[in-house]
Amino acid sequence: MRKVTLLEQSSLNRGMMPLKEHIPASPSSGSDSSDEIEERADAYLPSAQKRYCHACLGLVAFTTLAVTVPTCVWGVVDPFASISAGYTVSVLLLQYWMMEWPQCDSRPIGLLLAAALVFTLPTALASFLNWSIRVRIAAFILDVTLAACTYVLTIRGPAYEPEKNAMAKRTVIITGCNSGIGLVTAKTLAKSGATIIFACRTESKAKEAMQEVLEEAATHGVTESQLKFMQLDLSSLSSVRCFAQKFQNECEELHVLVCNAGAFFPTKSVTQDGLDSCLASNHFGHFLLTQLLLPTLLATEKKGGEPRIVSVSSCLAYEQRAFDFSQACKVNDDNKAAFLEDPEYEVFRAYGQSKIAGMMCLRELASRLQEHGSEIPVNAVHPGEIDTNITGSLHPALAYLTKIFKPFVRMMLKSPYQGSIGTVFASTSLEMATSNHMAGEFLMRLEPIRANEAWLNDADCLKCWNVSIALTGAPDAVGA
Ligand SMILES: NC(=O)c1ccc[n+]([C@@H]2O[C@H](COP(=O)([O-])OP(=O)(O)OC[C@H]3O[C@@H](n4cnc5c(N)ncnc54)[C@H](OP(=O)(O)O)[C@@H]3O)[C@@H](O)[C@H]2O)c1
Repeated sequence: MRKVTLLEQSSLNRGMMPLKEHIPASPSSGSDSSDEIEERADAYLPSAQKRYCHACLGLVAFTTLAVTVPTCVWGVVDPFASISAGYTVSVLLLQYWMMEWPQCDSRPIGLLLAAALVFTLPTALASFLNWSIRVRIAAFILDVTLAACTYVLTIRGPAYEPEKNAMAKRTVIITGCNSGIGLVTAKTLAKSGATIIFACRTESKAKEAMQEVLEEAATHGVTESQLKFMQLDLSSLSSVRCFAQKFQNECEELHVLVCNAGAFFPTKSVTQDGLDSCLASNHFGHFLLTQLLLPTLLATEKKGGEPRIVSVSSCLAYEQRAFDFSQACKVNDDNKAAFLEDPEYEVFRAYGQSKIAGMMCLRELASRLQEHGSEIPVNAVHPGEIDTNITGSLHPALAYLTKIFKPFVRMMLKSPYQGSIGTVFASTSLEMATSNHMAGEFLMRLEPIRANEAWLNDADCLKCWNVSIALTGAPDAVGA
C-alpha cells in the first residue's frame, strides 16, 4: 500500500480501488513452504547482531580517534568539538542499530558530515591557520548548533498539536494508557475534548493515571466524565471479549481505537489460552479486540463519525523479513515443554515478530476495509526510542539505570510526550481522516516509510490473518 497522492485522490474518490492492486508483487509471494518462511524470519538474527557490532565498533573507533589523534599528532584538542561530534555520532549509531533510518535519508548523512567538519575544523585551524579567542568562540557556537540540530532532527522529531476541541464528542479507546506513550496520548486527546477509555489491565494503575490526567489537564477543561476505566488484559482472550462486550453495552460510538499496549518478554512463556505470551499480548489481543469492535467502528462510520484505527508498532518490526508461523500455535500440556525449550529465543526478535504479525494483519485489514467500501484508515506509527517503563520489562535493572542516568538518557531517547506525537497525529490530523489519503502505512516522524518485505507479501499477510482468526476465535467482521 503506498501513499495516495493528492492528485490521485480525485480518481480514487470516484470508485474505491482495492489496496492490493497497488502492492508490488514480492519476489517470494505466495509459494513459500513453512521452512522457507522460518529461514527468512531467522535471517533477522545475524543481521541484528551484525548491526549491533557495527554500531559498537563505530562508537569505539570514533571515540578513540576523537581523543587520540588530535592530542597525539597535533598536540591540540577542542573538547567541545569532540563532545558535540561524539554526541551526534552516538545518537546516529544508536538509531541506526534500532532501524530508525530504514531508508536513505539526507538528514543523518548531513549530520554526519557536519560532525566530521565540526570535529576536524578546530584542529586544522589550530595547526595551520588561526586559533585565536574569536575563532574559538565561533567554533563553540558551531559545536552547540550541531548538538542542537542533532537533538531536533534525531530525537525530538517533527512537532504536532491537535486543534483545540478537535476531538470534542469523540470516544477514544487507548490500550495500556496507564503509563508511557499511552498516558501522554490520553492527556493530549482529553485536552482536545475526547472521552478516553482507559483500557488497562490494573485498575489501581489506571485510576492513578486518570487522576494525573485530571490534575494536569484541569486548566484545559478536562472533566472526570471524560475519563473512563474498563479492565483489559490483552494476554487473555476472555478478558478481551469481556472488554468489548462492556464497551458495546455502554458506548454507542467509537471514533478512535489506539492499539498502544505492548511489552518485552525476556523469557518465553505461554498464556492461559496456550498462546506464546509475547504474541498474545502484543498481537493476538489487539487483533481480537479490533475484530470485536469493527461492527461499532463501521456503525460509527455510517453515522458520519470518521473513525480510525491506530496501531503503535515499532521499527523492530521493520527488520523482520517474515513472520515465523511456527510460533503462532496453540500449546497444550503435551507440547508445552518442547515449545518453551527454544535455545534461539531472543527478546528483541520475539518482540519484533509480534509487531510484524500486527503489521501484516493491519495491511490485510486496511485492504479488506477498502474492498468493503469502508474508508476507515488503519495505520501504524513508530514512536521512536522512548524513555518509558518498557525498559523495565526488558530487565528490572534497566529501569534503575535509566532513573540514575536520567539527564544522559534524555539526551539519547525521546520523552513520552515526544513519543506520543505520531499517535496523536494519526488519531486527529485531517490528513489521516480517511483511507483515501493513507491506509496500511507505517509512519515514522509523521511520514509513511517504504514497506518492508514481510508486509508486502500478500500471501503471508493473508495467512497471518487466517492464523490469527483461527487462534483467537475472532469473528471475521470483514471476511473476504
Ligand atoms: N518505548 C519505546 O522506546 C518504544 C519503541 C517502539 C515502540 N514502542 C511501543 O509503544 C507502546 C507503548 O509502550 P511504552 O513505551 O509507553 O511502554 P510502557 O510505559 O511500559 O507502556 C506499556 C503499556 O502497555 C500495558 N500492557 C502491557 N501488556 C499488557 C497487557 N497484556 N494487557 C494490557 N495492557 C498491557 C502496560 O500496562 P502495565 O503498566 O500494567 O504493565 C502499559 O500500560 C508499546 O506498544 C511499545 O511496544 C515503544
